[in-house]
Amino acid sequence: MEIPRHISIIMDGNGRWAKKQGKMRLFGHNAGRESVRACTEYCAEIGVGYLSLFAFSEENWGRPADEVAGLMDLLGRCLLEERDTLLKNNVRFRVIGDRARLSASLLKGVESLEKETASNSGLTLIIMLSYSGKWDILQAARRYASDCLEAGEALPLDETGFSGYLATAGVPDPDLLIRTSGEQRISNYMLWQCAYTEFYYTPVLWPDFRKTDLEQALQSYNLRERRYGKVE
Ligand code: IPE
Ligand code: IPE
Ligand code: MG
Repeated sequence: MEIPRHISIIMDGNGRWAKKQGKMRLFGHNAGRESVRACTEYCAEIGVGYLSLFAFSEENWGRPADEVAGLMDLLGRCLLEERDTLLKNNVRFRVIGDRARLSASLLKGVESLEKETASNSGLTLIIMLSYSGKWDILQAARRYASDCLEAGEALPLDETGFSGYLATAGVPDPDLLIRTSGEQRISNYMLWQCAYTEFYYTPVLWPDFRKTDLEQALQSYNLRERRYGKVE
């Protein structure tokens, strides 16, 4: 079986999962932690290079204040509580997104875990936080423009060069993108990076997603023929 170098997951359906049991939405977000653990463990075990998880979009800032606060609080707690497991499993932790919107304390927690795990050589676990595809492309364009201003000329730019300005610079494009909860849309995720990504949709709600669901996605991925616009 071919193991993708980079698997990305749009972790969706926490709210509906909670609602089904008559609970608050945050209960669903909290339950999603177990799915994150299961996927991280499995990806580390089978030798996936990068696992990126869409945890919070730029648009998600527009949710009710108590849900946003609850999610940020949950993330902060996860940083502390998952630390030992990540270190033990040789996982390198990273956050990609608009850091300017994160609270000082959350940012501090993120930066310290990134630093502590920076030399780990196993799976790279990336939490996409306060991220959106259009935000990423725009910040890349702005930084390129500012480099041009500084250089006093229009600097040469090709696809590889532009990728280097994206927040995901250095991370290979996702080979497989999974979205849970039955929604079949990209929701402003990695728009540039998903140019040739294989998509896999499953009706399973994120808090129910486990190793066997990931195995099914990998089986489907292995049946795909990636042509990149060419003929075989
Ligand atoms: C995904 O679950 C988690 C985040 C977007 C933060 P949702 O909160 O979107 O759950 P549904 O889609 O409402 O069920
Ligand atoms: C996408 O889910 C964002 C994350 C999973 C973090 P949403 O629930 O926010 O997306 P829409 O609103 O259904 O498109
Ligand atoms: Mg949703």
